[in-house]
Amino acid sequence: MTENNYPATGVTSPAAIQAVLLNNVRPYGEGDPVSVLIRDGKIAEIGDIDTAAAKDAQVIDGKGNVLLPGLVDMHVHLREPGREDTETIETGSNAAAKGGFTAVFTMANTMPVMDQPIIAESVWLKSQHYGVCDVHPVGSITQGLEGKQLTEFGMMANSQAKVRMFSDDGKCVGDPQLMRRAIEYSQGMDVLLAQHAEDVRLTEGAVAHEGAEAAKLGLRGWPRVAEEAIVARDAIMNRDYGGRLHICHASTEGTVDQLRLAKSRGVAVTAEVTPHHLLLTDEVLSSYDGVYRVNPPLRERRDAEALKNALLEGVVDCVATDHAPHGSEEKCVEFEHARPGMLGLETSLAIVAKVFVESGLADWRFVAKVMSEKPAEITRLPGHGRPIAVGEPANLTVVDPDAPWTVHGEELESKSENTPFEDMTFNAQVTHTILRGHVTLSDGEISAPAHGDSAIAQ
Ligand code: DOR
Ligand code: ZN
Repeated sequence: MTENNYPATGVTSPAAIQAVLLNNVRPYGEGDPVSVLIRDGKIAEIGDIDTAAAKDAQVIDGKGNVLLPGLVDMHVHLREPGREDTETIETGSNAAAKGGFTAVFTMANTMPVMDQPIIAESVWLKSQHYGVCDVHPVGSITQGLEGKQLTEFGMMANSQAKVRMFSDDGKCVGDPQLMRRAIEYSQGMDVLLAQHAEDVRLTEGAVAHEGAEAAKLGLRGWPRVAEEAIVARDAIMNRDYGGRLHICHASTEGTVDQLRLAKSRGVAVTAEVTPHHLLLTDEVLSSYDGVYRVNPPLRERRDAEALKNALLEGVVDCVATDHAPHGSEEKCVEFEHARPGMLGLETSLAIVAKVFVESGLADWRFVAKVMSEKPAEITRLPGHGRPIAVGEPANLTVVDPDAPWTVHGEELESKSENTPFEDMTFNAQVTHTILRGHVTLSDGEISAPAHGDSAIAQ
Protein backbone atom coordinates (compact mmCIF):
# COMPACT_ATOMS: atom_id res chain seq x y z
CA MET A 1 0.00 0.00 0.00
CA THR A 2 1.18 3.46 -0.80
CA GLU A 3 0.02 6.66 0.87
CA ASN A 4 -3.76 7.00 1.08
CA ASN A 5 -4.04 3.22 1.43
CA TYR A 6 -3.91 3.20 -2.30
CA PRO A 7 -3.09 -0.07 -4.04
CA ALA A 8 0.32 0.06 -5.68
CA THR A 9 -0.49 0.40 -9.35
CA GLY A 10 2.33 2.30 -10.91
CA VAL A 11 -0.05 5.24 -11.01
CA THR A 12 0.10 7.99 -8.47
CA SER A 13 -3.23 8.84 -6.94
CA PRO A 14 -5.04 11.96 -8.13
CA ALA A 15 -3.83 13.60 -4.96
CA ALA A 16 -4.73 17.13 -4.04
CA ILE A 17 -2.57 19.71 -5.69
CA GLN A 18 -3.77 22.25 -3.21
CA ALA A 19 -5.68 22.39 0.01
CA VAL A 20 -9.46 22.55 0.07
CA LEU A 21 -11.39 24.38 2.74
CA LEU A 22 -14.92 23.05 2.93
CA ASN A 23 -16.90 25.52 5.01
CA ASN A 24 -20.32 25.26 6.54
CA VAL A 25 -21.06 21.53 6.32
CA ARG A 26 -22.80 19.20 8.75
CA PRO A 27 -21.10 15.79 9.01
CA TYR A 28 -23.78 13.08 8.81
CA GLY A 29 -26.37 15.90 8.88
CA GLU A 30 -25.80 16.28 12.60
CA GLY A 31 -25.02 19.26 14.85
CA ASP A 32 -23.90 22.75 13.93
CA PRO A 33 -22.05 23.39 10.68
CA VAL A 34 -18.27 23.04 10.78
CA SER A 35 -15.36 23.63 8.43
CA VAL A 36 -13.20 20.82 7.08
CA LEU A 37 -9.66 21.48 5.91
CA ILE A 38 -8.25 18.99 3.41
CA ARG A 39 -4.54 18.74 2.72
CA ASP A 40 -2.54 16.16 0.77
CA GLY A 41 -5.70 14.21 0.10
CA LYS A 42 -6.52 13.79 3.77
CA ILE A 43 -8.74 15.49 6.32
CA ALA A 44 -6.33 17.79 8.17
CA GLU A 45 -8.68 19.65 10.50
CA ILE A 46 -12.35 19.76 11.41
CA GLY A 47 -14.04 22.56 13.37
CA ASP A 48 -13.54 26.26 13.48
CA ILE A 49 -10.66 26.75 11.09
CA ASP A 50 -8.48 29.83 11.11
CA THR A 51 -8.71 31.08 7.52
CA ALA A 52 -5.13 32.38 7.76
CA ALA A 53 -4.02 28.77 8.17
CA ALA A 54 -5.81 27.91 4.94
CA LYS A 55 -4.77 30.83 2.75
CA ASP A 56 -3.69 28.57 -0.11
CA ALA A 57 -6.92 26.59 -0.06
CA GLN A 58 -9.69 26.33 -2.64
CA VAL A 59 -12.71 27.47 -0.61
CA ILE A 60 -16.08 25.78 -0.95
CA ASP A 61 -19.22 27.07 0.73
CA GLY A 62 -21.10 23.99 1.91
CA LYS A 63 -24.17 26.14 2.69
CA GLY A 64 -25.03 24.13 5.80
CA ASN A 65 -25.48 20.96 3.75
CA VAL A 66 -24.93 17.33 4.77
CA LEU A 67 -21.41 15.90 4.60
CA LEU A 68 -21.11 12.17 4.01
CA PRO A 69 -18.20 9.83 3.38
CA GLY A 70 -17.75 9.39 -0.40
CA LEU A 71 -20.30 6.90 -1.67
CA VAL A 72 -19.25 3.43 -2.84
CA ASP A 73 -21.22 1.44 -5.42
CA MET A 74 -20.28 -2.22 -5.54
CA HIS A 75 -22.32 -2.97 -8.66
CA VAL A 76 -22.20 -0.97 -11.89
CA HIS A 77 -21.72 -1.73 -15.59
CA LEU A 78 -19.47 0.81 -17.33
CA ARG A 79 -19.42 -1.12 -20.64
CA GLU A 80 -15.74 -0.59 -21.39
CA PRO A 81 -14.29 -2.50 -23.15
CA GLY A 82 -16.76 -3.32 -25.91
CA ARG A 83 -19.79 -1.06 -25.68
CA GLU A 84 -18.19 2.35 -25.43
CA ASP A 85 -21.15 3.69 -27.41
CA THR A 86 -23.26 3.31 -24.25
CA GLU A 87 -20.77 4.10 -21.44
CA THR A 88 -17.03 4.43 -20.93
CA ILE A 89 -14.76 4.59 -17.92
CA GLU A 90 -14.78 8.38 -18.34
CA THR A 91 -18.52 8.93 -18.76
CA GLY A 92 -19.23 6.34 -16.06
CA SER A 93 -16.79 8.11 -13.73
CA ASN A 94 -18.56 11.40 -14.44
CA ALA A 95 -21.94 9.83 -13.68
CA ALA A 96 -20.48 8.36 -10.49
CA ALA A 97 -19.05 11.70 -9.31
CA LYS A 98 -22.35 13.39 -10.14
CA GLY A 99 -24.09 10.82 -7.96
CA GLY A 100 -21.66 11.37 -5.06
CA PHE A 101 -19.54 8.25 -5.59
CA THR A 102 -15.80 8.07 -5.05
CA ALA A 103 -15.45 4.35 -5.80
CA VAL A 104 -17.41 1.93 -7.97
CA PHE A 105 -17.03 -1.72 -8.96
CA THR A 106 -17.66 -2.41 -12.61
CA MET A 107 -18.98 -5.81 -13.58
CA ALA A 108 -17.24 -8.36 -15.75
CA ASN A 109 -19.82 -8.66 -18.55
CA THR A 110 -17.80 -6.50 -20.92
CA MET A 111 -16.64 -7.48 -24.41
CA PRO A 112 -14.19 -9.09 -24.05
CA VAL A 113 -15.23 -10.44 -20.68
CA MET A 114 -13.13 -9.32 -17.69
CA ASP A 115 -11.60 -12.75 -17.21
CA GLN A 116 -7.92 -11.87 -17.64
CA PRO A 117 -5.63 -9.65 -15.57
CA ILE A 118 -4.77 -7.47 -18.56
CA ILE A 119 -8.39 -6.45 -19.14
CA ALA A 120 -8.94 -5.68 -15.47
CA GLU A 121 -5.69 -3.70 -15.36
CA SER A 122 -6.63 -1.61 -18.34
CA VAL A 123 -9.94 -0.61 -16.71
CA TRP A 124 -8.30 0.22 -13.38
CA LEU A 125 -5.45 2.20 -14.93
CA LYS A 126 -7.80 4.15 -17.19
CA SER A 127 -9.85 5.20 -14.20
CA GLN A 128 -6.73 6.25 -12.31
CA HIS A 129 -5.50 8.23 -15.27
CA TYR A 130 -8.82 10.03 -15.57
CA GLY A 131 -8.97 10.58 -11.82
CA VAL A 132 -12.67 11.30 -11.26
CA CYS A 133 -13.65 8.04 -9.58
CA ASP A 134 -11.88 4.85 -8.53
CA VAL A 135 -13.24 2.19 -10.88
CA HIS A 136 -12.47 -1.28 -9.55
CA PRO A 137 -12.92 -4.08 -12.06
CA VAL A 138 -14.85 -7.17 -11.00
CA GLY A 139 -13.36 -10.36 -12.42
CA SER A 140 -15.63 -12.99 -13.93
CA ILE A 141 -16.05 -16.28 -12.06
CA THR A 142 -16.06 -18.32 -15.25
CA GLN A 143 -14.13 -17.87 -18.47
CA GLY A 144 -16.12 -15.88 -21.00
CA LEU A 145 -19.09 -15.96 -18.56
CA GLU A 146 -19.78 -19.37 -20.07
CA GLY A 147 -20.37 -21.11 -16.76
CA LYS A 148 -17.94 -23.89 -17.60
CA GLN A 149 -14.44 -23.17 -16.40
CA LEU A 150 -13.26 -21.02 -13.50
CA THR A 151 -11.02 -18.04 -14.18
CA GLU A 152 -7.66 -17.50 -12.47
CA PHE A 153 -8.79 -15.63 -9.36
CA GLY A 154 -5.23 -15.50 -8.07
CA MET A 155 -3.75 -13.92 -11.16
CA MET A 156 -6.41 -11.22 -11.23
CA ALA A 157 -6.19 -10.63 -7.47
CA ASN A 158 -2.43 -10.23 -7.71
CA SER A 159 -2.52 -8.01 -10.82
CA GLN A 160 -2.17 -4.22 -10.70
CA ALA A 161 -5.96 -4.05 -10.62
CA LYS A 162 -6.00 -6.00 -7.34
CA VAL A 163 -9.33 -7.62 -8.21
CA ARG A 164 -11.13 -8.36 -4.96
CA MET A 165 -14.58 -9.37 -6.20
CA PHE A 166 -15.62 -11.99 -8.75
CA SER A 167 -19.01 -12.28 -10.40
CA ASP A 168 -20.65 -13.57 -13.55
CA ASP A 169 -23.36 -10.92 -13.01
CA GLY A 170 -25.83 -10.77 -15.83
CA LYS A 171 -25.65 -14.54 -15.65
CA CYS A 172 -25.98 -16.93 -12.73
CA VAL A 173 -23.33 -19.52 -11.90
CA GLY A 174 -25.96 -22.22 -12.16
CA ASP A 175 -23.92 -25.43 -12.09
CA PRO A 176 -23.81 -26.37 -8.40
CA GLN A 177 -20.52 -28.25 -8.69
CA LEU A 178 -18.85 -25.29 -10.37
CA MET A 179 -20.25 -22.92 -7.72
CA ARG A 180 -18.93 -25.21 -5.02
CA ARG A 181 -15.45 -25.08 -6.57
CA ALA A 182 -15.68 -21.31 -6.96
CA ILE A 183 -16.58 -20.92 -3.28
CA GLU A 184 -13.68 -23.14 -2.22
CA TYR A 185 -11.26 -21.32 -4.51
CA SER A 186 -12.50 -17.90 -3.37
CA GLN A 187 -11.96 -18.87 0.23
CA GLY A 188 -8.37 -19.81 -0.49
CA MET A 189 -7.77 -16.49 -2.26
CA ASP A 190 -9.83 -14.48 0.25
CA VAL A 191 -11.91 -12.78 -2.45
CA LEU A 192 -15.62 -12.01 -2.56
CA LEU A 193 -17.98 -14.01 -4.79
CA ALA A 194 -21.03 -12.06 -5.97
CA GLN A 195 -23.85 -14.21 -7.29
CA HIS A 196 -26.54 -13.12 -9.76
CA ALA A 197 -29.16 -15.47 -8.35
CA GLU A 198 -31.34 -16.78 -11.16
CA ASP A 199 -32.23 -20.37 -11.90
CA VAL A 200 -32.46 -20.02 -15.67
CA ARG A 201 -34.59 -23.11 -16.03
CA LEU A 202 -37.31 -21.10 -14.31
CA THR A 203 -36.85 -17.88 -16.26
CA GLU A 204 -36.77 -19.03 -19.87
CA GLY A 205 -38.40 -16.31 -21.95
CA ALA A 206 -39.40 -14.41 -18.81
CA VAL A 207 -39.43 -10.62 -19.02
CA ALA A 208 -41.47 -9.47 -16.02
CA HIS A 209 -42.20 -10.49 -12.44
CA GLU A 210 -44.58 -13.46 -12.36
CA GLY A 211 -47.79 -12.07 -10.88
CA ALA A 212 -51.13 -10.47 -11.64
CA GLU A 213 -49.55 -7.59 -13.56
CA ALA A 214 -47.58 -9.78 -15.98
CA ALA A 215 -50.62 -12.00 -16.45
CA LYS A 216 -52.79 -8.99 -17.27
CA LEU A 217 -50.25 -7.59 -19.72
CA GLY A 218 -49.51 -10.92 -21.36
CA LEU A 219 -45.83 -10.90 -20.38
CA ARG A 220 -43.96 -14.11 -19.57
CA GLY A 221 -43.45 -14.28 -15.79
CA TRP A 222 -40.22 -14.54 -13.79
CA PRO A 223 -41.05 -16.30 -10.52
CA ARG A 224 -39.56 -15.38 -7.16
CA VAL A 225 -38.36 -18.93 -6.65
CA ALA A 226 -35.86 -18.51 -9.51
CA GLU A 227 -33.93 -16.14 -7.26
CA GLU A 228 -34.70 -17.59 -3.85
CA ALA A 229 -33.71 -21.17 -4.72
CA ILE A 230 -30.22 -20.03 -5.74
CA VAL A 231 -29.85 -17.80 -2.68
CA ALA A 232 -30.77 -20.76 -0.45
CA ARG A 233 -28.47 -23.16 -2.30
CA ASP A 234 -25.49 -20.84 -2.26
CA ALA A 235 -25.96 -19.89 1.39
CA ILE A 236 -25.92 -23.59 2.26
CA MET A 237 -22.81 -24.16 0.15
CA ASN A 238 -21.13 -21.20 1.77
CA ARG A 239 -22.05 -22.59 5.17
CA ASP A 240 -20.32 -25.86 4.35
CA TYR A 241 -17.38 -24.71 2.21
CA GLY A 242 -16.55 -21.28 3.60
CA GLY A 243 -15.83 -18.17 1.58
CA ARG A 244 -17.56 -14.81 1.47
CA LEU A 245 -20.74 -14.80 -0.59
CA HIS A 246 -22.56 -11.70 -1.75
CA ILE A 247 -26.03 -11.71 -3.30
CA CYS A 248 -26.47 -9.17 -6.09
CA HIS A 249 -29.69 -7.17 -6.42
CA ALA A 250 -31.91 -9.00 -3.89
CA SER A 251 -35.44 -8.49 -5.17
CA THR A 252 -37.95 -10.61 -3.27
CA GLU A 253 -39.46 -11.00 0.17
CA GLY A 254 -38.41 -14.65 0.16
CA THR A 255 -34.79 -13.73 -0.55
CA VAL A 256 -34.92 -11.60 2.59
CA ASP A 257 -36.18 -14.68 4.51
CA GLN A 258 -33.31 -16.80 3.16
CA LEU A 259 -30.76 -14.12 4.07
CA ARG A 260 -32.18 -13.77 7.56
CA LEU A 261 -31.95 -17.51 8.13
CA ALA A 262 -28.41 -17.75 6.77
CA LYS A 263 -27.21 -14.79 8.81
CA SER A 264 -28.83 -16.13 11.97
CA ARG A 265 -26.75 -19.28 11.47
CA GLY A 266 -23.56 -17.29 11.08
CA VAL A 267 -23.09 -17.85 7.33
CA ALA A 268 -20.78 -15.23 5.75
CA VAL A 269 -23.34 -13.90 3.31
CA THR A 270 -24.06 -10.27 2.43
CA ALA A 271 -26.56 -8.72 0.04
CA GLU A 272 -27.39 -5.53 -1.80
CA VAL A 273 -30.64 -3.95 -2.95
CA THR A 274 -31.02 -1.53 -5.84
CA PRO A 275 -32.80 1.83 -5.61
CA HIS A 276 -35.21 0.71 -8.35
CA HIS A 277 -36.30 -2.37 -6.40
CA LEU A 278 -36.91 -0.13 -3.37
CA LEU A 279 -38.92 2.53 -5.18
CA LEU A 280 -40.63 0.94 -8.19
CA THR A 281 -43.03 -1.97 -8.59
CA ASP A 282 -44.35 -3.94 -11.54
CA GLU A 283 -47.32 -1.57 -11.76
CA VAL A 284 -45.21 0.68 -13.99
CA LEU A 285 -45.13 -2.04 -16.65
CA SER A 286 -48.59 -1.17 -17.96
CA SER A 287 -46.90 1.40 -20.23
CA TYR A 288 -45.00 -1.49 -21.90
CA ASP A 289 -42.01 0.85 -21.91
CA GLY A 290 -38.77 -1.10 -22.30
CA VAL A 291 -37.04 1.29 -19.91
CA TYR A 292 -38.67 -0.71 -17.09
CA ARG A 293 -37.25 -4.04 -18.17
CA VAL A 294 -34.55 -5.19 -15.74
CA ASN A 295 -33.10 -8.42 -14.32
CA PRO A 296 -34.26 -9.28 -11.75
CA PRO A 297 -37.59 -7.70 -12.64
CA LEU A 298 -39.46 -5.04 -10.68
CA ARG A 299 -41.57 -6.92 -8.13
CA GLU A 300 -44.65 -6.19 -6.03
CA ARG A 301 -45.24 -3.72 -3.21
CA ARG A 302 -44.73 -6.37 -0.53
CA ASP A 303 -41.30 -7.21 -1.94
CA ALA A 304 -40.25 -3.55 -1.96
CA GLU A 305 -41.49 -3.21 1.62
CA ALA A 306 -39.62 -6.32 2.75
CA LEU A 307 -36.42 -5.06 1.10
CA LYS A 308 -36.79 -1.67 2.76
CA ASN A 309 -37.24 -3.23 6.18
CA ALA A 310 -34.40 -5.67 5.56
CA LEU A 311 -32.04 -2.78 4.79
CA LEU A 312 -33.18 -0.99 7.97
CA GLU A 313 -32.56 -4.18 9.99
CA GLY A 314 -29.23 -4.99 8.33
CA VAL A 315 -30.48 -8.26 6.83
CA VAL A 316 -29.73 -6.65 3.47
CA ASP A 317 -26.41 -4.88 3.95
CA CYS A 318 -26.17 -2.11 1.41
CA VAL A 319 -27.50 -0.28 -1.63
CA ALA A 320 -25.91 -0.87 -5.03
CA THR A 321 -27.25 0.64 -8.23
CA ASP A 322 -26.71 -2.03 -10.90
CA HIS A 323 -26.22 1.00 -13.18
CA ALA A 324 -26.79 -0.63 -16.58
CA PRO A 325 -26.54 1.78 -19.53
CA HIS A 326 -28.17 0.77 -22.82
CA GLY A 327 -28.58 2.61 -26.10
CA SER A 328 -32.02 3.72 -27.30
CA GLU A 329 -31.94 1.08 -30.05
CA GLU A 330 -31.83 -1.53 -27.27
CA LYS A 331 -34.50 0.09 -25.11
CA CYS A 332 -37.00 1.86 -27.37
CA VAL A 333 -38.34 -1.40 -28.77
CA GLU A 334 -41.12 -3.86 -27.85
CA PHE A 335 -40.93 -4.73 -24.15
CA GLU A 336 -39.95 -8.35 -24.86
CA HIS A 337 -37.06 -7.20 -27.03
CA ALA A 338 -35.75 -4.47 -24.75
CA ARG A 339 -32.40 -5.22 -23.12
CA PRO A 340 -32.70 -5.52 -19.34
CA GLY A 341 -31.08 -2.83 -17.21
CA MET A 342 -31.50 0.77 -16.05
CA LEU A 343 -29.30 3.70 -15.11
CA GLY A 344 -28.74 4.26 -11.42
CA LEU A 345 -25.61 6.20 -10.47
CA GLU A 346 -27.02 9.72 -10.68
CA THR A 347 -30.36 9.08 -8.99
CA SER A 348 -29.50 6.64 -6.19
CA LEU A 349 -28.68 9.07 -3.39
CA ALA A 350 -31.87 11.05 -4.06
CA ILE A 351 -33.95 7.85 -3.96
CA VAL A 352 -32.38 6.55 -0.77
CA ALA A 353 -32.92 9.98 0.81
CA LYS A 354 -36.57 9.95 -0.28
CA VAL A 355 -37.31 6.39 0.87
CA PHE A 356 -35.49 6.55 4.20
CA VAL A 357 -34.66 10.09 5.32
CA GLU A 358 -37.61 12.12 4.04
CA SER A 359 -40.01 9.43 5.23
CA GLY A 360 -38.51 9.64 8.71
CA LEU A 361 -37.50 5.96 8.70
CA ALA A 362 -33.79 6.67 9.08
CA ASP A 363 -31.18 9.41 9.24
CA TRP A 364 -28.11 10.43 7.24
CA ARG A 365 -25.88 8.14 9.34
CA PHE A 366 -27.89 5.29 7.91
CA VAL A 367 -27.33 6.60 4.38
CA ALA A 368 -23.58 6.78 5.11
CA LYS A 369 -23.73 3.20 6.34
CA VAL A 370 -25.62 1.60 3.45
CA MET A 371 -24.11 3.66 0.61
CA SER A 372 -20.51 4.01 1.79
CA GLU A 373 -19.35 2.17 4.91
CA LYS A 374 -20.94 -1.21 4.27
CA PRO A 375 -20.03 -1.56 0.58
CA ALA A 376 -16.43 -0.56 1.42
CA GLU A 377 -16.40 -3.11 4.25
CA ILE A 378 -17.88 -5.94 2.15
CA THR A 379 -15.39 -5.33 -0.65
CA ARG A 380 -12.55 -4.70 1.84
CA LEU A 381 -11.79 -1.46 0.12
CA PRO A 382 -9.23 0.60 1.99
CA GLY A 383 -9.56 4.38 2.16
CA HIS A 384 -13.29 4.51 1.38
CA GLY A 385 -16.30 4.33 3.69
CA ARG A 386 -14.14 5.71 6.48
CA PRO A 387 -15.28 7.96 9.33
CA ILE A 388 -15.27 11.70 8.72
CA ALA A 389 -12.31 12.34 11.01
CA VAL A 390 -8.88 13.97 11.02
CA GLY A 391 -6.25 11.83 9.31
CA GLU A 392 -8.73 9.94 7.15
CA PRO A 393 -8.57 10.06 3.33
CA ALA A 394 -10.65 12.97 2.01
CA ASN A 395 -13.24 10.96 0.10
CA LEU A 396 -16.35 13.00 0.74
CA THR A 397 -19.77 13.91 -0.61
CA VAL A 398 -21.85 17.01 0.09
CA VAL A 399 -25.61 16.67 -0.25
CA ASP A 400 -28.20 19.41 -0.29
CA PRO A 401 -31.21 17.65 1.24
CA ASP A 402 -33.64 20.25 -0.01
CA ALA A 403 -32.84 21.16 -3.61
CA PRO A 404 -35.69 19.76 -5.73
CA TRP A 405 -34.62 18.57 -9.17
CA THR A 406 -36.30 16.66 -11.95
CA VAL A 407 -34.68 13.72 -13.71
CA HIS A 408 -34.18 14.06 -17.47
CA GLY A 409 -32.23 11.25 -19.09
CA GLU A 410 -30.74 13.49 -21.73
CA GLU A 411 -29.23 15.77 -19.07
CA LEU A 412 -27.45 12.99 -17.20
CA GLU A 413 -23.66 12.59 -17.33
CA SER A 414 -24.08 8.98 -18.40
CA LYS A 415 -23.65 8.32 -22.10
CA SER A 416 -27.02 6.56 -22.07
CA GLU A 417 -30.45 7.85 -21.15
CA ASN A 418 -32.32 4.78 -19.92
CA THR A 419 -33.48 6.10 -16.57
CA PRO A 420 -36.77 4.71 -15.24
CA PHE A 421 -37.12 7.89 -13.15
CA GLU A 422 -37.67 10.26 -16.10
CA ASP A 423 -39.68 13.33 -15.06
CA MET A 424 -39.67 12.33 -11.39
CA THR A 425 -38.74 15.10 -8.95
CA PHE A 426 -36.49 14.40 -5.98
CA ASN A 427 -35.38 16.65 -3.15
CA ALA A 428 -31.84 15.58 -2.32
CA GLN A 429 -29.06 16.62 -4.65
CA VAL A 430 -25.33 15.96 -4.54
CA THR A 431 -23.50 19.28 -4.82
CA HIS A 432 -19.85 18.28 -4.31
CA THR A 433 -17.81 15.11 -4.50
CA ILE A 434 -14.21 14.93 -3.35
CA LEU A 435 -11.81 12.11 -4.22
CA ARG A 436 -8.63 12.11 -2.13
CA GLY A 437 -8.80 15.87 -1.82
CA HIS A 438 -9.55 16.51 -5.47
CA VAL A 439 -12.93 18.14 -6.07
CA THR A 440 -14.48 15.95 -8.77
CA LEU A 441 -17.92 17.57 -8.60
CA SER A 442 -18.33 21.22 -7.71
CA ASP A 443 -21.77 22.84 -7.60
CA GLY A 444 -23.00 20.13 -9.91
CA GLU A 445 -20.12 20.46 -12.43
CA ILE A 446 -17.63 17.66 -13.06
CA SER A 447 -14.00 18.60 -12.79
CA ALA A 448 -11.46 16.08 -13.97
CA PRO A 449 -7.96 16.72 -12.66
CA ALA A 450 -5.51 18.09 -15.20
CA HIS A 451 -3.48 15.12 -16.33
CA GLY A 452 -0.43 16.48 -14.57
CA ASP A 453 -2.24 15.96 -11.26
CA SER A 454 -2.62 12.26 -11.68
CA ALA A 455 0.33 11.52 -13.88
CA ILE A 456 1.32 7.96 -14.54
CA ALA A 457 4.66 7.31 -12.89
CA GLN A 458 7.29 6.94 -15.58
O1 DOR B 1 -30.87 -5.74 -15.77
C1 DOR B 1 -29.72 -6.14 -15.80
N1 DOR B 1 -28.81 -5.60 -16.64
N2 DOR B 1 -29.36 -7.13 -15.00
C2 DOR B 1 -28.16 -7.71 -15.09
O2 DOR B 1 -27.90 -8.61 -14.32
C3 DOR B 1 -27.18 -7.28 -16.11
C4 DOR B 1 -27.44 -5.90 -16.52
C5 DOR B 1 -26.70 -5.48 -17.77
O3 DOR B 1 -25.51 -5.81 -17.91
O4 DOR B 1 -27.28 -4.76 -18.57
ZN1 ZN C 1 -25.62 -6.07 -12.83
